[in-house]
Amino acid sequence: TLAPELKDTGPEKLLAPVLSAFWDEDKSWTLDVYKRHEGYEGLRKALAMSPDDVIAYVKESGLRGRGGAGFPTGMKWQFIPQGDGKPHYLVVNADESEPGTCKDIPLLFANPHSLIEGIVIACYAIRSSHAFIYLRGEVVPVLRRLHEAVREAYAAGLLGENVLGSGLDLELTVHAGAGAYICGEETALLDSLEGRRGQPRLRPPFPAVAGLYACPTVVNNVESIASVPTIMNRGKDWFRSMGSEKSPGFTLYSLSGHVVRPGQYEAPMGITLRQLLDMSGGMRPGHRLKFWTPGGSSTPMFTDEHLDVPLDYEGVGAAGSMLGTKALQCFDETTCVVRAVTRWTEFYAHESCGKCTPCREGTYWLVQLMRDIEAGKGRMSDLDKLNDIADNINGKAFCALGDGAASPIFSSLKYFREEYEQHITGRGCPFDPARSTAWA
Ligand code: NAI
Repeated sequence: TLAPELKDTGPEKLLAPVLSAFWDEDKSWTLDVYKRHEGYEGLRKALAMSPDDVIAYVKESGLRGRGGAGFPTGMKWQFIPQGDGKPHYLVVNADESEPGTCKDIPLLFANPHSLIEGIVIACYAIRSSHAFIYLRGEVVPVLRRLHEAVREAYAAGLLGENVLGSGLDLELTVHAGAGAYICGEETALLDSLEGRRGQPRLRPPFPAVAGLYACPTVVNNVESIASVPTIMNRGKDWFRSMGSEKSPGFTLYSLSGHVVRPGQYEAPMGITLRQLLDMSGGMRPGHRLKFWTPGGSSTPMFTDEHLDVPLDYEGVGAAGSMLGTKALQCFDETTCVVRAVTRWTEFYAHESCGKCTPCREGTYWLVQLMRDIEAGKGRMSDLDKLNDIADNINGKAFCALGDGAASPIFSSLKYFREEYEQHITGRGCPFDPARSTAWA
């Protein structure tokens, strides 16, 4: 699924640095540096087109949402009703919190203007005069940098009244959340932005119909919006020359865990973990890959059998998981899968907003069972119970948090049931007997 010219090339050629191209340059986050790297050229081209043509162009580029779900970005923009007399809003979801996911925050820190430029283009297209960035609250240095970049953009006439003489008036508000995972769910995010407790709303209606202040709203991920300026500037065909028909373009893959050089690897969609490991120095010396997540802990885990799965929506889907946030957490053979899943399950139970029963009660039960099994106090019947509880959360919770909590349970039992059984028959953790008393 790689573009022909990228096939059979050396690993370094597989990288496609676009958003990350100048992250290591001095003061990369400033307007001056951004302008030296095609900055705001995409906006000029967009403003020379009609708003509807911009939407059609982004749709034809095939860009899909980079927040995890992969919904076509141009189509989402097209859902915004026109001539309805209501205000339209763009809300950028920068509340990145999925375990292992760490692409939007570095992007905002090193290259905030790519997002601001994308916001102006998107607002022009959907005819919005007010955009919001909802940022994860814990990242205060990123908040400061974002505020500074927004100030620079206002001073340069790229935000505010009559942007670049186009007639577009645009206000941009940066809002910091308070550190709740659920506020990354788009409707909980909107409630939080409106000043309410962040809990998911029932969908439909989707935000495109009734979003912020009940008005038509586009909610897009940081990376999705930041990818738009280069598409406008270099062209949709350039974008489509990478990746596959259904998953075109480049994207940021975040490698973490037991790898030699963890970090962000920007590459065409459809690259494999084997290729990414080649570029990142592989697993730490003397160790081998045991399991990994294609898109954070909410996506079913993979094993070393899946090293050649193309990392795009179709490839990962066909292999039984989801691409999600492209957070590739790699664990070697020293890691206890039961411990890892217990830790993730604790996270979901802690972050469950409590609005719906399957998630609120189910995640709590899962933690109790996982802790018992890890401590050597489990029974064989607990394994079916785990599956059963996860099954009662999956697809039955109010939002995707519940599905995310069920995922690692299902997939770890599928691939590593024996390891669970060892904890039960051996009355403790075979990797770290000391942990067996942790929950005693
Ligand atoms: P979803 O598939 O329900 O929706 C995706 C987007 O498409 C939303 O913006 C939704 O409003 C829009 N949409 C879908 N159907 C629509 C329709 N018929 N009309 C109008 N708009 C429509 O996915 P969801 O629940 O928004 O997100 C789940 C994903 O979030 C997971 O795949 C997971 O990987 C990811 N995630 C990302 C996190 C992060 O930190 N980046 C954290 C947790 C989950």
